[in-house]
Amino acid sequence: MYVDNNYRTPLEADLQIVRLLRDYFGRCLADVTPRSLWGVDVGAGANLYPALSMLPWCAKLMLLEYAQPNVEYLERQVAPEGFDGAWDAFWEVLRERPAYRDVAEPRSRVSEIVRVERLNLFDLDGHRRWDIGTMFFVADSMSECPEEFQRGVSCFMNALGEGAPYAVAFMKESIGYDVGEHRYPAYRVNRERAAGSLAPFSAELEIHDLDHVVRPGHEGMLLALGRRNSEIAVP
Ligand SMILES: C[S@@+](CC[C@H](N)C(=O)[O-])C[C@H]1O[C@@H](n2cnc3c(N)ncnc32)[C@H](O)[C@@H]1O
Repeated sequence: MYVDNNYRTPLEADLQIVRLLRDYFGRCLADVTPRSLWGVDVGAGANLYPALSMLPWCAKLMLLEYAQPNVEYLERQVAPEGFDGAWDAFWEVLRERPAYRDVAEPRSRVSEIVRVERLNLFDLDGHRRWDIGTMFFVADSMSECPEEFQRGVSCFMNALGEGAPYAVAFMKESIGYDVGEHRYPAYRVNRERAAGSLAPFSAELEIHDLDHVVRPGHEGMLLALGRRNSEIAVP
């Protein structure tokens, strides 16, 4: 299963991303009251660490995902039984910063405030807006088409209110890959393309180039951290 391959043993690349998320959100939300924001992770898949990175500041946190098996996985993670032990290694890294340590029981907090919804990213049309958001490896993994990539980024940005901190990750220079008969396409993102797609929506933007390669066919990962500006985007 997806989570077994990707997150059972934390990859150094993911731990590095979690450190950057922790420090960025910790810094820009230092004066924000805990449990006051509405957060969203778009295309959450079988990955809980983007949600965990927003947990201390969220009153509510929505995981949006289109694929039904991933929706079911996520629903199990937010059930009262608590998320899988696989996520503890990521929480340990987050806990190095006080805001996270202040969440005494992350499992019960997740069950209390996190909800899962089956939704197509392209239906985010600006009517629902969140105060903080993440989107990891989604817009770049839908097709090879530059317009679809940009539409994915625009729809995510449309879902964020002015000033909202965000984190977006892309595979760098991915040419897609095959599993058996199935082809997973990719839009080939580099630093310039990432910046070009995000900057029009951003009041501040930093792009981290992580050169960890996790499979053949890509050259690392790009993590963009920023804040939404006041422009209203048209997807
Ligand atoms: C490469 S996976 C990344 C999953 C997860 N965010 C992670 O970091 O591992 C891409 C995810 O985006 C979801 N997705 C693809 N197209 C989508 C769409 N149009 N709307 C919502 N989710 C979508 C897929 O189902 C999948 O879970």
